[in-house]
Amino acid sequence: MKYGFFDDQNKEYVITTPKTPLPWINYLGCKDFFTLLSNTCGGYTFYKDAKLLRMTRYRYNDTTPDTNGKYFYIKDGDTIWNPGWQPTKTALDSYECRHGIGYSKFTGSKNDIEAALVTFVPVDDAVELTKVTLTNKGTSKKDIQLFSYVEWCLWNADDDMKNFQRNLSIGEVEVVDSTIYHKTEYRERRNHYAVYSVNAKIDGFETSRDEFRGAYNGPDKPAAVIAGKLNNTICSGWYPIASHQINISLEAGESTTFVFALGYIENAEDDKWEAPSVINKKKATALLSKYQTAEAFDSALAELCSYWDGLLGKFHIASKDEHVNRMVNIWNQYQCMVTFNMSRSASYYESGIGRGMGFRDSCQDLLGFVHLIPDRARERIIDIASTQFQDGSAYHQYQPLTKKGNSDIGSGFNDDPLWLIAGTSAYIRETGDTSILEETVPYDNDMSVATSLMEHLKRSFDYIVNHKGPHDLPLIGRADWNDCLNLNCFSEHPGESFQCFGPSEGPVAESVFIAGMFVKYGREYADLCKLTGDNAEADRVLAEVDKMIAAIEKDGWDGEWFVRAYDAYSKKVGSKECEEGQIYIEPQGMCVMAGVGVDDGNAKKALDSVKEKLDTKYGVMILQPAYTRYHLELGEISSYPPGYKENAGIFCHNNPWISIAETCIGRGDRAFEVYKKTCPSYIENISEIHRTEPYVYSQMVAGADAKFHGEAKNSWLTGTAAWTFTNISQYILGIYPTLEGLSVNPCTPAEFGDFNVTRVYRGVTYNIAIKNPNKVQKGVASLLVDGQEIQGNIIPFDGSKKTVNVVATMS
Ligand code: GLC
Ligand code: GLC
Repeated sequence: MKYGFFDDQNKEYVITTPKTPLPWINYLGCKDFFTLLSNTCGGYTFYKDAKLLRMTRYRYNDTTPDTNGKYFYIKDGDTIWNPGWQPTKTALDSYECRHGIGYSKFTGSKNDIEAALVTFVPVDDAVELTKVTLTNKGTSKKDIQLFSYVEWCLWNADDDMKNFQRNLSIGEVEVVDSTIYHKTEYRERRNHYAVYSVNAKIDGFETSRDEFRGAYNGPDKPAAVIAGKLNNTICSGWYPIASHQINISLEAGESTTFVFALGYIENAEDDKWEAPSVINKKKATALLSKYQTAEAFDSALAELCSYWDGLLGKFHIASKDEHVNRMVNIWNQYQCMVTFNMSRSASYYESGIGRGMGFRDSCQDLLGFVHLIPDRARERIIDIASTQFQDGSAYHQYQPLTKKGNSDIGSGFNDDPLWLIAGTSAYIRETGDTSILEETVPYDNDMSVATSLMEHLKRSFDYIVNHKGPHDLPLIGRADWNDCLNLNCFSEHPGESFQCFGPSEGPVAESVFIAGMFVKYGREYADLCKLTGDNAEADRVLAEVDKMIAAIEKDGWDGEWFVRAYDAYSKKVGSKECEEGQIYIEPQGMCVMAGVGVDDGNAKKALDSVKEKLDTKYGVMILQPAYTRYHLELGEISSYPPGYKENAGIFCHNNPWISIAETCIGRGDRAFEVYKKTCPSYIENISEIHRTEPYVYSQMVAGADAKFHGEAKNSWLTGTAAWTFTNISQYILGIYPTLEGLSVNPCTPAEFGDFNVTRVYRGVTYNIAIKNPNKVQKGVASLLVDGQEIQGNIIPFDGSKKTVNVVATMS
């Protein structure tokens, strides 16, 4: 069942009912100012940091789903309704929501009035703009009223929902003409305030939530709207809001348009006031004056759309498969931008106060983002590396506003250091910019101990070399990629954090997954050493990699698949010897991607075992059999009910690893089959089962053991976006950036057919035609570059050209 449809021409998903199984959201904002926006106008806004600079309130965990947003109420006689249906939920005569790339449009109608909302954040301004167009579709004149509504958050979203004894006394606002200023805490240590304004004369305003709603009313029955009159209250403490009232007369067929602006303003410390207690509004006035007309609104929106066209044009495929075209050209790349911006901080499942920017998460997000805006990727790599410790280990997360690491969700995850190599290597393969390796980068933000970025990579690598266990495999630390495999934790009491409790590392528990990573990213590090002329370091590194391969072959192989780990008693995890959890997905994907077992047939065996034991119609599960009881020695993984999350869920993030691994052994049919199973567009027609948005990936789909097998959770912020884009673009379609140039080596299903890719790489546009006359799954027999046949798969990079035409023939 579907709740809408894809409009590929406009790059939109069109939702045709407000009653989607879960709120289906969009992200507005490209750089610093962001809004989460659901298909019923729910959501919230923040500047840079969803925890520290939250502008509007949202209520997670409320009994009415998706409570609070930026609402418009229309009062037409006794009927009060919202164009996005919530919060009054008055039945609409028509409803449509179009989530586009960086904007959303809503059209609702009721009793001959049509309300069209368009909302977006301009590319370079810290403001959310909404154009409201009201049209009288009837045959007689209508007198109606429009009311806006936002509820301010008192900036620190964490404190805002805990510290009521203080917060109920600090709310402050100012109102001038049609602009409402939210200035809580501005009198003391803040130098920023928020504004909500409309480009028209208003008939009233309200800044007190209690006055707006009336005691004991919810947002569905606001007393002031019912009365048809806002009271012009200047709030003092309690719950500051911003609401405008506009009275409107519309002749039959007549339309009227308003532009609302919700903005963030920062003033210099010595320029905060224009008079005692009166905030300096110069910057606000300047910002608002830019968007006073519908024309200014439209041209800023057009600029946003062309900005996105430019980005999405960097990788474009034309094939006969509409799902692949749509996901690759639009939604998958879009989600990569969102995960780059948000990491795992703010979504409808991530509260914006718990997890900032993850070290491993953000490094992986780079893989799918780096081709879009390489300069921002560069800055991000430096930010991440700046939180690394001197011994190469890392904080697990940092706060986007301060860019400082913290241990709130633990540290000592021993895979973290290697992801820094992965992200840096991807950046240099994309850009050829080796100067980043010479950048001076601090450790734990301490400039006095800064070194080159290259030295950071060395310390990342050596951290693993220096932390090995009894089988010469890497010690796992608190956990590796799988946050929930806590082999040193031994938590016995409720409430202890699996990520923070117990020692950060034991001397025994080891990870075969990190061993696979070490081989893959160790080699990428060695390539960078060679590129920069340090052959001695490259030799040293490759010798260490060889030792690790030997260790995997000796103690990391279980006969039919790779072992997952060794626990604190040196017992195998993810082995046929285990009672539960006999096979895990991660080492099968990572070891084969690293090339381990490709020559001796073990890779094929491992992937066959994955297919036999972990596959379902909705994707590949993370492990089997599921843990049915809590295993003290394994930790959080066994705390989840069977089939959910890391305990045998379909953890979408590592499905592309399996798909990539299949391309490493040339099985295009199977690689694509794995791709399809979790691909949102392919499963759009089971939206009632899947439930999350059909245009983006979710972190998890419930596995075969779960009651709701096939149901997804935690949409949007997942490494699945970056890894899937890497998989489809670089491995299945086979356009892979190497240090020397683009490589063309597709691995597709036999029936995939010919296809064309346009790829902008280091400023050159490559038009690549791929022909597959004999329906093979892998292998390029001839590669013509501007008419010249070349040897091998790599197109030598030539920056003097603007365009390069390539024809690759598979056979
Ligand atoms: C979450 C985390 C990610 C981790 C994964 C598996 O998605 O963000 O860092 O690798 O869970 O536990
Ligand atoms: C929990 C989740 C995991 C997530 C981690 C982050 O362990 O199961 O998916 O990565 O929390 O702290």
